[in-house]
Amino acid sequence: MGWLRSSLNGCRLHRFSTVVVFLLPMLLSGCAQPKPSKSEAVLKSGLDAEGHPIALQVLPRTGVGDIDWVAAIKQGILHPKGSLAAPSPQDSPILNLDIVFNISEAYPVPNVVFPHAPHTMWLNCNNCHPTIFIMRQGANPVSMDRIIKGEYCGRCHGVVAFPFTDCLRCHSRPK
Ligand code: HEC
Ligand code: HEC
Ligand code: HEC
Repeated sequence: MGWLRSSLNGCRLHRFSTVVVFLLPMLLSGCAQPKPSKSEAVLKSGLDAEGHPIALQVLPRTGVGDIDWVAAIKQGILHPKGSLAAPSPQDSPILNLDIVFNISEAYPVPNVVFPHAPHTMWLNCNNCHPTIFIMRQGANPVSMDRIIKGEYCGRCHGVVAFPFTDCLRCHSRPK
């Protein structure tokens, strides 16, 4: 069996050297490439010297300092695509429909306005209907408690959309 082992070893050695021969030019050319300058490296990383994303610096901010994504669309800085697939499927239309959630007099906070228009600039109807919200005013037992637990508005707000701490952006209509 000795002959078998030695021929297998030979085979392994042969494979190994083939790999090295193939990789060597790549390794060498890698070494030969000039190191990117500091500013190139910064641009490539997309982060500034303090580690903040450069792209975010051009976007408008809300009164409390969060990025105002809706204003960024309105100012023409952002143009969200319906899909990454090409050709992009038809986006759902922007819907101008405000839904008011009346808050009981027991609570000293203004009523809530849910505006469809800015949401449908980003989202399709089926992102919310019918899984998160039944498509009928008053049909969903929304409460602040359930939102903070991640239901209803809290499926996105506090996760990918502006946080709960900006109370008056939702509670925007005086009683
Ligand atoms: C970000 C979530 C979201 C998206 C996206 C969304 N909706 Fe809604 N929609 C709501 C909420 C919240 C309500 C109010 C539910 C309630 O009062 O309990 C509502 C209510 C409705 C109603 C009921 C109005 C009434 O008077 O009863 C209709 C109709 C509706 N939406 C249509 C649409 C259509 C069409 C689209 C897409 C163009 C859409 N919605 C996209 C959240 C959304
Ligand atoms: C993302 C939108 C949003 C934000 C941000 C938000 N709320 Fe609400 N809030 C709602 C909705 C929707 C309701 C439910 C309305 C209803 O009763 O039909 C609500 C209900 C309430 C209620 C009524 C009682 C209850 O528990 O339902 C209070 C009080 C309240 N919010 C306080 C606040 C305070 C304080 C903040 C800031 C720390 C805040 N909310 C931030 C959307 C929001
Ligand atoms: C499916 C995700 C999703 C749900 C559910 C959702 N939102 Fe939003 N909302 C967004 C996104 C995305 C934006 C835009 C990004 C941002 O402003 O942070 C937004 C923006 C907003 C704005 C700012 C509008 C403007 O003109 O500046 C308000 C007000 C708002 N949402 C209220 C609500 C309320 C109230 C609910 C629940 C009744 C709700 N949203 C549910 C995703 C959602």
